[in-house]
Amino acid sequence: MDATTTASKTALMVCAYRARASKWPTPLFVDPWAESIAGADGHEIAKRLDARFAPMELWLALRVAYLDKLVGTAVDRLNVRQIVILGAGYDTRAARLPRAGVRFFEVDHPATQADKRAQLAKLRGYPVEAATYVTCNFEREDPIERLVANGFSTTEPALVIWEGVVPYLTEGAVRATAIRLATGLDPRSLVAFDFVGKKLAGGQNLSVKDQQTREYVGELGEPIQYGSDDVLPLLYECGFRWVRSLDFNELALEMIGDYKREWMFRFQHIALAAVRTPVANWP
Ligand SMILES: C[S@@+](CC[C@H](N)C(=O)[O-])C[C@H]1O[C@@H](n2cnc3c(N)ncnc32)[C@H](O)[C@@H]1O
Repeated sequence: MDATTTASKTALMVCAYRARASKWPTPLFVDPWAESIAGADGHEIAKRLDARFAPMELWLALRVAYLDKLVGTAVDRLNVRQIVILGAGYDTRAARLPRAGVRFFEVDHPATQADKRAQLAKLRGYPVEAATYVTCNFEREDPIERLVANGFSTTEPALVIWEGVVPYLTEGAVRATAIRLATGLDPRSLVAFDFVGKKLAGGQNLSVKDQQTREYVGELGEPIQYGSDDVLPLLYECGFRWVRSLDFNELALEMIGDYKREWMFRFQHIALAAVRTPVANWP
């Protein structure tokens, strides 16, 4: 979304999925603000994706729940007191997961962040001061510089959650941002991001549904640009020396005890990266 000056429609879409997943009989998480923020527009965008990629709601729920859990792990086991949400969209973790002494930094494209702040101001009871808001365009700005200018410390460890963003960036922006995270953060920091397979990003030899999904997301103004089947080489080249990657089948099995081949979750991953091994016996 480099050229656009409008707020991210994919961010509104995933907000609608968070609202839906919050209403499951046994939800993996509850986002009490997602319904109001998503509104009719967000639900409409999500409904149109359902026809092309039916497991999106489950995929999103697993992603949110896993990363929510990681916030607790980072605070309790890695002694992290700074949580950075890169490409935050309408993320509400700062409000949902408050911990004493822990600061949340929400970094996003200026157009999306301006819309989010306008939406939050209208919500009764939303603790807008729970996050420090930082604008940054990953295609041309340095997120560490932008964070430091807003009170972030590079000599204290951080958890960086880069959720639902990497697929929408050019490889150049993914690399530039990853290099800055590897070199600019305190070495005890941990970075987490999700990514899609190379085939979906490349757009060749796709199934009809995958082709339709790719086209629809492009029509929303944020084409899928980056995909990888193995991010370890890129992370190594960017300076990381500890990498773990898990696929969404593994997450589904763990969180809902189910597996279905047709979800195609084996092509979607979450990567964890650090410049040093975070703790002994990391699961
Ligand atoms: C699918 S949304 C994900 C939002 C949020 N992380 C979530 O999971 O709900 C994609 C996000 O990436 C951000 N984004 C896309 N391209 C960007 C860029 N070049 N610079 C900064 N942010 C960008 C959008 O503003 C948007 O918030």
